[in-house]
Amino acid sequence: MSTMWNDKAPVAAAPSAAAFDAWRVRADFPALRQTVRGRPLIYLDNAASTHKPKVVIDTVARFYSEEYSNVHRGVHYLSQLATDLYEDARRTAQQFLNARREEEIVFVRGTTEAINLVAQTFGRSKLGPGDEIIVSAIEHHANIVPWQMICREKGATLRVIPIDEHGELILDAFEPMLSERTKLVSIVHVSNALGTVNPVKEIIEIAHRHGVPVLVDGAQSVQHMPVDVQELDCDFFALSGHKIYGPTGIGVLYGKKALLDDMPPYQGGGDMILSVSFERTVYNDVPFKFEAGTPNIAGAIGLAAALKYFRSLDIAAIAAHENELLEYATRKLEAIDALRIIGTATHKASVISFTLCAVHPHDIGTILDQHGIAVRAGHHCAQPVMQHFGIPATARASFSFYNTMEDVDALAHGIESVLEVFT
Ligand code: ALA
Repeated sequence: MSTMWNDKAPVAAAPSAAAFDAWRVRADFPALRQTVRGRPLIYLDNAASTHKPKVVIDTVARFYSEEYSNVHRGVHYLSQLATDLYEDARRTAQQFLNARREEEIVFVRGTTEAINLVAQTFGRSKLGPGDEIIVSAIEHHANIVPWQMICREKGATLRVIPIDEHGELILDAFEPMLSERTKLVSIVHVSNALGTVNPVKEIIEIAHRHGVPVLVDGAQSVQHMPVDVQELDCDFFALSGHKIYGPTGIGVLYGKKALLDDMPPYQGGGDMILSVSFERTVYNDVPFKFEAGTPNIAGAIGLAAALKYFRSLDIAAIAAHENELLEYATRKLEAIDALRIIGTATHKASVISFTLCAVHPHDIGTILDQHGIAVRAGHHCAQPVMQHFGIPATARASFSFYNTMEDVDALAHGIESVLEVFT
């Protein structure tokens, strides 16, 4: 049960990033005003999912209240309105990623579906026995399992770029792995479990020198840094709406048009066809070829509102603020003797995974929750990362631009309370 509270800026305590006013933007997020377990909510589980600004909630509510109908199917007013809003959302996503063409934006359920789509279409049509797909050792399950499934089916092999003790890719090992057998490199931009920011531009350049296309998993990057798919020159890019302040159940697969055109459909059904007969079905053009059935219309429109909201903020200032949160939190947590930070890459997004001597991460999460502090505890859907560090799980604090230095202080204080229980 939760109650609402007044989210007032406290008298300055810890250092604060002057350029970005987190206290001001917090006012845009109704959920951040609540108390949980009798304490003001301190939400540090943003890598799992972010809260929604009021403009996103209002946009979805207005759509269902006043603008709702199915898309691409009706001549009536509401259907045309909903279709316009849905296709405007596609253009918003195109502009957000700086894709060359709107047809390069496919709406999907999220990053997981985007990667499965590429595995089941591009992978299915390109892979044969002996071929290879390359991923890295810091992928989450969504960028491992779809490849394992299609590799098993096609007799292909999944190869893994190794990481070092900091959780950074050993890039020198990458180029020798590329050969004429390599059909795709699929690489995470920012690790959800460790926060490592991968040098994806360099990886893409290396792969392209060998004629290998690259999928970038942007589930944890677009909410922290500007992403320009033309500048990166990635071949595919995946993102999840709910991690960038939008609704759940909606995401984007960007793909270069020539690749999307060449790929067979993913699912069959309405809207992905031009004509159907029992003798012969003609598929629709991209992106509709990949959007079978009634899509998540409200999700796409809500995502567009989220992307516009995010873009209306100063992304450079967001990045600076989140970096300041990360540095301050790292200093505070490093000062706790029993605590070990897992993932110490030079370039990190605002994610800190840690263990606390013999305390199980679930106990850390449960005790922090009693203080109103939400962190994630577990393997973060990245079990190979945990295996690399020889641990079953971590506790993870992940920061958004709406977090403050005071949230970091509360986290450090909460961790001291965990230690008091266990010592
Ligand atoms: N992938 C999400 C996370 O990192 C669910 O928590």
